[in-house]
Amino acid sequence: MIQAKNLHKYYDQLHVLKGVDLHIKQGEIVSIVGASGAGKTTLLQILGTLDQPTVENGIELRINNEDILTMNDKTLSKFRNLNLGFIFQFHQLLPEFTALENVCIPAFIANKSKQETETEAKKLLTYLGLSHRINHKPNELSGGEQQRVAVARALINKPAIIFADEPSGNLDTASAENLHQLFFKLRDELGQTFVIVTHNEELANMADRKLVMVDGQISN
Ligand SMILES: Nc1ncnc2c1ncn2[C@@H]1O[C@H](COP(=O)(O)OP(=O)(O)O)[C@@H](O)[C@H]1O
Ligand SMILES: [Mg+2]
Repeated sequence: MIQAKNLHKYYDQLHVLKGVDLHIKQGEIVSIVGASGAGKTTLLQILGTLDQPTVENGIELRINNEDILTMNDKTLSKFRNLNLGFIFQFHQLLPEFTALENVCIPAFIANKSKQETETEAKKLLTYLGLSHRINHKPNELSGGEQQRVAVARALINKPAIIFADEPSGNLDTASAENLHQLFFKLRDELGQTFVIVTHNEELANMADRKLVMVDGQISN
């Protein structure tokens, strides 16, 4: 699902990723842990095609068997919209839109029909236990509900992979646990692949594989 070799990233002189090799299979939940500043977010953003690695000999980045590194911006945006889902620490829902509208946006960007999209979005929100909240705006929802809307938004285009950066970092213990259970349910029922950066030890240890980042490298 993801094949990465010799990923490096420099911000000016700062060498943030120092040769990361990674292979993630379909249906796997992989957690990435490590101290603040180790490069976790940088790695996730590069794997998620939101940022670019520094070109080095032997570099490789393939997602869903597609060579990411040779895509132009337009092709890459389309690829990202259709194949990748994102969940961030702060939900990043659009405040002026309802839960339903927020979930529909990635599908509208992909030119899917309004009716079909709304039906699918309602189905997803119901599946995530939010059927009674679909017409509410983000500030009318709890933190846990906002994150579940963000999960529905990540799922709407049936992505190959979902990337999550500290998804429960802003949640109380019960909502965090609920969100973590949801990731495993999505994996078990839909075969959804996840790459999750987290400080939550319980979630990190529940994952199929835990990668530890130390100073820009994966240490295990
Ligand atoms: N856009 C940027 N420009 C310059 N330095 C950055 C940028 N993004 C991150 N860094 C630096 O790269 C290092 C790794 O950051 P990050 O990947 O966010 O770490 P983590 O997510 O593990 O806390 C840090 O030293 C951070 O200050
Ligand atoms: Mg980070």
